Amino acid sequence: MRDLRGRTALVTGASRNIGAFITRILAAEGMNLVLAARSRPELEAVAAEVAGAGVAVLPVVTDVADLGSLEAMVQAARDRFPTLDVLVNNAGTIEVGDFDRLDLAAIEATMRVDLVAPMLLARLVLPVMLAQGRGHIVSMSSLAGRFGLPGIETYCAAKAGVANFSAALRAAYRARGVSASAILPGYVHGAGMYQQVQDRTHLPTPRSQGSSAPGEVARAVVRAIRLDLPEVVVSPRPMRPMFALQGLFPAMTERLVATLGGDWYQRAGRALEGTASRP
Ligand SMILES: NC(=O)c1ccc[n+]([C@@H]2O[C@H](COP(=O)([O-])OP(=O)(O)OC[C@H]3O[C@@H](n4cnc5c(N)ncnc54)[C@H](OP(=O)(O)O)[C@@H]3O)[C@@H](O)[C@H]2O)c1
Repeated sequence: MRDLRGRTALVTGASRNIGAFITRILAAEGMNLVLAARSRPELEAVAAEVAGAGVAVLPVVTDVADLGSLEAMVQAARDRFPTLDVLVNNAGTIEVGDFDRLDLAAIEATMRVDLVAPMLLARLVLPVMLAQGRGHIVSMSSLAGRFGLPGIETYCAAKAGVANFSAALRAAYRARGVSASAILPGYVHGAGMYQQVQDRTHLPTPRSQGSSAPGEVARAVVRAIRLDLPEVVVSPRPMRPMFALQGLFPAMTERLVATLGGDWYQRAGRALEGTASRP
């Protein structure tokens, strides 16, 4: 979708951090916005900020883990805007810790927010987009969806699912005008879930990996839509050679990933043990 001006985007997890950056960049592109998250004051603050860019903004307090809440949000969007052109499945959560000791309900809750919600939301907007003959669904995966990282097993499973779901959606509907892209960021510094864990553990980012700014993730979303890309990796280091290596030599790659600091979240989880609240 080359021309974003005047079109409508629905962004989940828009109340802060990466979602707020995505919201700002889409507003700067002239898109009208439906913003979804649970925290009303933060959501309304982001909405008020981008309304200054001269676009129409509808904040809708939404729990993406709840189907009724998703349905109500999509209905509110349809009542307000004549079209729904872009969906950005950005809302996410992470459960850090040794998998054998994780709370069972937390595993299920993480899967619901990180994997089931993007699928349900895509299912809810698809009929609208297909009727328009135009739409783009962007879903936030992660490099954790490509590599098996200890300490965040549930998150890895969900993000792998998101990336493959996005590829399948794209294959199914692109010929009918509705496309899909997955965004795969590595560590993101300055704002967001990784920064939050780092602030509490003070564990340095693995030098071999480096980290990206949230604005780079937001720019990747715009690129994915404009250029209709299947996936965009956001990382200061080239990751595609690692993907190729993984396909060819999985045993060697698992050793390499471990050597390159792939156990960061496992170490973080252990550092967080005993602290009052875990992310
Ligand atoms: N930060 C990183 O290093 C990194 C790297 C790779 C991928 N990602 C992905 O990028 C996305 C954004 O990450 P982030 O770091 O900005 O996360 P974050 O700071 O934890 O923010 C998460 C966002 O999702 C919303 N959210 C969480 N649970 C929700 C629910 N049940 N219903 C509605 N909204 C919900 C939160 O809003 P409320 O709490 O107000 O509901 C918030 O706006 C996620 O999908 C994440 O997995 C992040």
